[in-house]
Amino acid sequence: MTNQKDCGLILALDMETREEALEILDHLGDSIEWVKIGLQLFTAYGPDFVREIAERNYRIFLDLKLHDIPNTVAKAVRSIAQLPVELLSLHAAGGPEMIEWANQVRLEHSQQLRLLAVTVLTSMSSEQLQALNVKVSAEEQVLHLAKKSLEAGAQGLVCSPLELPALRDQFGSDPLIVTPGIRPQGSDINEQKRVMTPSAAAQAGSNYIVVGRPILQANNPALAAINIRAELKF
Ligand code: C5P
Repeated sequence: MTNQKDCGLILALDMETREEALEILDHLGDSIEWVKIGLQLFTAYGPDFVREIAERNYRIFLDLKLHDIPNTVAKAVRSIAQLPVELLSLHAAGGPEMIEWANQVRLEHSQQLRLLAVTVLTSMSSEQLQALNVKVSAEEQVLHLAKKSLEAGAQGLVCSPLELPALRDQFGSDPLIVTPGIRPQGSDINEQKRVMTPSAAAQAGSNYIVVGRPILQANNPALAAINIRAELKF
């Protein structure tokens, strides 16, 4: 267990349309402070949608998992720095130079943006990594990519909650760690394979948990969000 402050809740706004997204946010009210906007809504509605959500006083994690040559990613980060976004994801596999360039642009153009490196996607098994010629275990690869990303200037990491102990052990309490793959006790795990409860993730040192379906598909989403937040205080 680490001495983290209270862990925050980020809602994964995985809805098909703008209207559905706004409807669920209306229902959730102030049970939610943070919203994660992913590729689906961003590719459909773009920066205007990000501004629209921010105007409703939500804090935003833009989960675009950027991965391209350093120059291209740096230009994308420069555009995103003009938006009301506080967290942005990029792929650690894009390499330290890509992250260095992104961080340089962040320093020059945004006071509030923080960069989160995605290490190994939780959908990747060790067999799939071997197929990509990665010869070490998934956990070793996560630690390696995390180290390279943090050294290159990323402020934090996105990882499975099961990786929290090893990451906190190696990197201490400084890096911001955001964990999806969260399921409250008794809820459907869907296709997520390696999950943790909100309280266990908070105690293992997560700064923010990302939760989608356990809130979005609950009979009473606002109550589900309130109950999850209650679990995060310890
Ligand atoms: O519905 P659920 O709680 O499983 O949603 C989790 C969210 O976190 C989704 O938006 C998913 O894309 C994202 N995510 C994930 N695993 C990762 C990275 C992101 O589940 N490794």
